[in-house]
This record gives sequence, structure tokens and C-alpha cells, in this order.
Amino acid sequence: MNRPTAKLTLFSTALALAVIAPTTLSHFNDKEMPQSYRQSWFALVAANFGPMAAMVKGDMPYDAERMQASADDLATLLQLDIMRGFPEGSEKGTTRAKPGIWDNKADFEQKMLDLQAAANALQAVAGGEDQKQVAARVGDVGQTCKACHDDYKSKDYLY
Ligand code: HEC
Repeated sequence: MNRPTAKLTLFSTALALAVIAPTTLSHFNDKEMPQSYRQSWFALVAANFGPMAAMVKGDMPYDAERMQASADDLATLLQLDIMRGFPEGSEKGTTRAKPGIWDNKADFEQKMLDLQAAANALQAVAGGEDQKQVAARVGDVGQTCKACHDDYKSKDYLY
């Protein structure tokens, strides 16, 4: 395995801050459809992002095919209109979504578009030889997760 070192180490540090613990609590509740809808979607996003982050950090063997497959699925998930999971009134119930989302809809949507752009850029290079480039693009995606979570996802809001 030929792993780029210095840049990757720097990147790993940044990513460690951005990455979400794999053991997130998820739920499905048919009385809280929007909340369940968006949380299920985020769970799929994380299930695809997690292995990519682990591969560039060296926590998992690097596999270019797997990288491409996860990047493809992440980009596909971003084709969905995730804002359908954030209708008015769904700041209640079992959720970590901060009420500020509904006061700053345009900013929130822009942050989702930033993720989409980063995911598309990653998809374009994911299966390639240049692991440094892939690592950089994975890092960009991680930054967009963090940028939104910092403002709009509570760590302990309601549950
Ligand atoms: C535009 C904002 C935004 C972006 C971008 C974003 N998230 Fe989130 N994420 C949220 C919000 C808000 C919640 C809380 C949803 C809830 O509890 O109803 C959440 C919840 C989650 C959860 C918990 C889901 C559950 O089971 O309850 C995970 C895991 C997650 N995000 C991972 C990610 C990853 C990985 C990325 C980047 C690839 C990402 N998110 C990008 C806003 C965002």
C-alpha cells in the first residue's frame, strides 16, 4: 500500500474533528415522519462517508473500488430533495435538528448544496490512483458536514 503521508496526517487531524461517531442513535417513528425521514437519510450518508474517511485515515485498507462505490452512493443520496425532511413544525419531537434551521432556511439549504458540490467533486476522482487527491476531496466533504453540524445539529438536544 502506498499511502501519502504528511498531507494525509494533517488531513486526518482535521477529519477527526469532522467525522461523526459511527455509533449514532437512530430511530424510526411513524408519528414523526419528517424526523425519521431525514435521520434515516443522514444514517445512509454517514454509512457511505464513514468508510471513505476510514480509508484515507488508514483505519481501513485502501480500496479504490470501494471508494468509488461509496462516493457514487453519496452523490446519489444527494440527488434526493432532503429538504422534504425539514418541513415547518418538524423541529419538535425526537430530533437533534436545532430550531435555527427554520429561521435560516436559505443558509441551511446552501450548506446542503455545499455538501452536494463536495460530494460531486469527490465522485469525479474517487476511484483514481491519486490517493492524495482523493483524501483532499474526502476532507472537503467532511468540512461541509462539520460546517452544518456546528450551526444546526445539537449534540444533546432532546435526546
Ligand atoms: C446542511 C446541514 C447538514 C449537512 C451538510 C450534514 N448534516 Fe448531518 N445532520 C444535520 C442535522 C440537522 C441533523 C439532525 C437531524 C435530526 O436529528 O432530526 C443531522 C444528523 C446527522 C446524523 C445522525 C442521524 C441519526 O441517526 O439521527 C449523522 C450520522 C449525520 N448527520 C452525518 C452527516 C455526515 C456524515 C455529513 C456529511 C457527509 C452530514 N451529516 C452533513 C445537518 C447536516
